[in-house]
Amino acid sequence: NKEVIPIKEITNFQSRAEEFFPIDWYKEMLHHHPVYYHEKTNTWNVFKYEDVKQVLSNYEFFSSEGSRTTIFVGANNKQEKPSPINITNMDPPQHRKSRSLLAAAFTPRSLKNWEPRIQQIAAELVEDIKENSDVNIVEALASPLPSLVIADLFGVPIQDRHQFKKWVDILFQPYDKERLEEIELEKQNAANEYFQYLYPIVVQKRLNLSDDIISDLIQVEVDGEKYTDEEIVQVTMLLLGAGVETTSHAIANTFYSFLYDDESLYGVLKNNLELVPHAVEEMLRYRFQMSRRDRTVKQDNNLLGVELKKGDVVIAWMSASNMDENMFDDPFSLDIHRSNNKKHLTFGNGPHFCLGAPLARLEMKIALEAFLQKFSRIEPVNEFELEKNLTASATGQSLTDLPMKVYK
Ligand code: HEM
Repeated sequence: NKEVIPIKEITNFQSRAEEFFPIDWYKEMLHHHPVYYHEKTNTWNVFKYEDVKQVLSNYEFFSSEGSRTTIFVGANNKQEKPSPINITNMDPPQHRKSRSLLAAAFTPRSLKNWEPRIQQIAAELVEDIKENSDVNIVEALASPLPSLVIADLFGVPIQDRHQFKKWVDILFQPYDKERLEEIELEKQNAANEYFQYLYPIVVQKRLNLSDDIISDLIQVEVDGEKYTDEEIVQVTMLLLGAGVETTSHAIANTFYSFLYDDESLYGVLKNNLELVPHAVEEMLRYRFQMSRRDRTVKQDNNLLGVELKKGDVVIAWMSASNMDENMFDDPFSLDIHRSNNKKHLTFGNGPHFCLGAPLARLEMKIALEAFLQKFSRIEPVNEFELEKNLTASATGQSLTDLPMKVYK
């Protein structure tokens, strides 16, 4: 198991709300410590756009195969021996093969097929939201959408989707220091149940291929290598871990932004649905916080302007780099019209660039369109306190509740 780097010691945030939107810290680091050595954790930290990009993509010097990481995966998720599913912890050339196996499920053609299915799921969720009332948009839309979508794309029978979401919620709930063992046990149980549920579905699909991700993964072959049934179940877990919480976070934060960053934006989008994809990119740039990845120095180098030694750990702060003035004009303000907002590094860069980025973008777009089409106006509720509605998550802090008034 990798040693976990306690990232909180580097950031030292004083509240959940600060971690949810650490713009002052980013400013400080970008302006005064763009390449920052943190002694206690023995890590280098980079914030500027070009440095972050370099660390993420230059795998000859910055490796994904290190023995320390900022991502806490827990004991039931051991990063073991090389396996075709261990894609995030591998460098090219090995990485290339594992990635092509998985990429078979994420072709542009699949994406086209998925669109109406995602629309259907989004429409059903939006349909259930009552007009002229208060709604918690996290519960009503942002949280369920990505897991229901992925259940559908895996080909899980429709009647099992809610059970499926329950497993996902348990499997990827954050570790709480006071309840470590209890949570670990809950996760192990959920993982066992999930495996016992999904494995026979994979076996069944092998006999009866259909139009879904599991069937794609069954069929794919790269250089004579194929997935076993067991590996396919593990791959689905990897996809859940990578794609559910992240997408929920992005959707929830977009609504937060409508309510608290720019009140006029909702109306603008309502009247100009063609702007939704631009809004999605700007939300990923500006409101998707705490995107960061670590790499381990593979050969001594000076690429960041400091002496880096083999084995040093470098943390690339993507969300901070999205606010680098050298890359984005007036970066600390939200502007859906900026011409280069798609250049954000929220999905990473280089060989490990998020495989699910097109799906995440599509889900965000469809969720917003479905919602915008139904409701003319949204408003914050007076008593909302951000600090009380956040919880620790893989992305730092995520909204548990975002109440708002919605009008027909
Ligand atoms: C990789 C972010 C949604 C699947 C990554 C990486 C980032 C990222 C930053 C790069 C990791 C690295 O450089 O080491 C996000 C964000 C999402 C999102 C912000 C939503 C807003 C998804 C979805 C899926 C997915 C929906 C699939 C269902 C993956 C996979 C990788 C990955 C498989 C590993 C790629 C590789 O190592 O080659 N994601 N992701 N992600 N993501 Fe996403």
